[in-house]
Amino acid sequence: MLGSWLLVVFCVCLLFLIIRIQRPKNFPPGPPPIPLFGNLFQFTLKNPLKDFEKLAERYGNVYSLYVGMKPVVVLHGLKVIREALVNKAADFSGRPQNLVRDVTRGKGIILADYGVQWKEHRRFALMTLRNFGLGKQSMENRILGELQHLVARLEKHVGSSMYPQTLFHDAASNIIYLVLFGIRFDYGDEILKVYVRLYSENLKLANGTWAMIYDALPMLRSLPLPFKKAFDNYSTLTTLTINMISKHKTTRVAGKPRDLVDCYLDELDKRSSESTFNEEQLVAFVMNLHIAGTDTTSNTLLTAILYLMIHPHVQKRCQMEVDKVIGNKPQPSFEDRHNMPYTQAMIHEIQRLANTVPLSVFHCTTKDTELMGFTIPKGTTIIPNLSSVLNEEDQWKFSHDFNPSNFLNEQGEFEKPDAFLPFSTGPRVCLGEGLARMELFLFLVTLLRQFEFVWPEDAGEPDFNPVFGITMSPKPYRMGVRLRQPAEEM
Ligand code: HEM
Repeated sequence: MLGSWLLVVFCVCLLFLIIRIQRPKNFPPGPPPIPLFGNLFQFTLKNPLKDFEKLAERYGNVYSLYVGMKPVVVLHGLKVIREALVNKAADFSGRPQNLVRDVTRGKGIILADYGVQWKEHRRFALMTLRNFGLGKQSMENRILGELQHLVARLEKHVGSSMYPQTLFHDAASNIIYLVLFGIRFDYGDEILKVYVRLYSENLKLANGTWAMIYDALPMLRSLPLPFKKAFDNYSTLTTLTINMISKHKTTRVAGKPRDLVDCYLDELDKRSSESTFNEEQLVAFVMNLHIAGTDTTSNTLLTAILYLMIHPHVQKRCQMEVDKVIGNKPQPSFEDRHNMPYTQAMIHEIQRLANTVPLSVFHCTTKDTELMGFTIPKGTTIIPNLSSVLNEEDQWKFSHDFNPSNFLNEQGEFEKPDAFLPFSTGPRVCLGEGLARMELFLFLVTLLRQFEFVWPEDAGEPDFNPVFGITMSPKPYRMGVRLRQPAEEM
């Protein structure tokens, strides 16, 4: 008996010796990995951000980890992230091969290689979103239109309390649909629920242990394990999106675009068959914008309302500024932000604390390169820890508190510190930044103008610790809604 045990121990030791992981020469330092699993057991998958802080304290601002047998390099703090993503952009702007990429086959923009397909689609998206040559209705009008529905829904809850999660999510999702297809869904619509379920299941899978196992152990990929669900969900989402595009085509007039999908179809007519523009790309493009633009914006809004309920003096001060600047105008406009330094500061401070995409979307090196004296081979996964910049002690006046003064200078003017990187930086910087900023401003100004948000007396203690994920969200909470009168009429 003892003999067989000794044999097992001997075989395991031998196996570990044979498949020992060794960091490449001059690779960034990090904790010692164990064979097959790497450093998987050394950080909390549920929320590794604190572990990442500790690792940076121990190993410095560029360190490495092993996810299974695969090395990843984590970038910590503004200086290093800027050096990689901006100064050495061409070397650090790829996307790694992993579960999410295999599911989407690298189509669309978010997970596309740093090449022609990505470049052409990014340029097209930015130009179309910016100029929005989409007939009469501008981007701003689309957002304000959706807000009327949101306000009407909130009015039904005046004097009571409600869970805002689904409502905010549906409103943010509608903005993207209005931009893409010129349509919106009723709040709580069944199709919307299917989309939300499939997207959130995939986001969870992409972020969980099964994705790590998929990435770390390629020999398991063909087995019927839970990561297969991500492929099935994606395929259902693709079919739903193809159907929506087909329906949209029936009312389209070529050369007279009503929305982003029409603009793409016009572009398709103009380009040759060798172009990177094609129907398959359009489907992935639509899905990319929907997934990237919904959770991010709605989670930021949820964080805003949570903090404003708990800091009523900040809420009040914003409301006073809103009343003064918007006055009797029927609706606010994005231009008003220039006269509203405090509200602008509040929104930016919310984004800093919301830390919505804490580890960015992972990058990858496109060639053998160097960073801060370390050598990093081509194809290495890079994690830009944006969270470390948004909380970096040397960069903020009040790095650990909620304090809009982080964005105000001594004259009380709005000022944005360099470390404000919730949208990341460099050529891969969030493509929807302009749209997201407009949404956050118009949503919050409109809501604060009409309502007061209060923490319900029976709701217990608020919990500011977010749920970790590719996008972070506050834990579900209830908000009390009261109608308010603008200051002039009080
Ligand atoms: C508060 C809201 C948002 C935040 C915090 C946010 C944040 C981010 C971050 C951190 C990235 C990764 C950048 C990188 O890889 O370095 C990203 C990428 C991206 N975002 Fe956003 N985002 C927001 C809203 C939106 C919206 C509304 C859209 C849609 C119009 C959008 C579309 C995209 C796309 C397409 C990419 C991929 C860019 C590329 O790979 O070139 N985002 N976003």
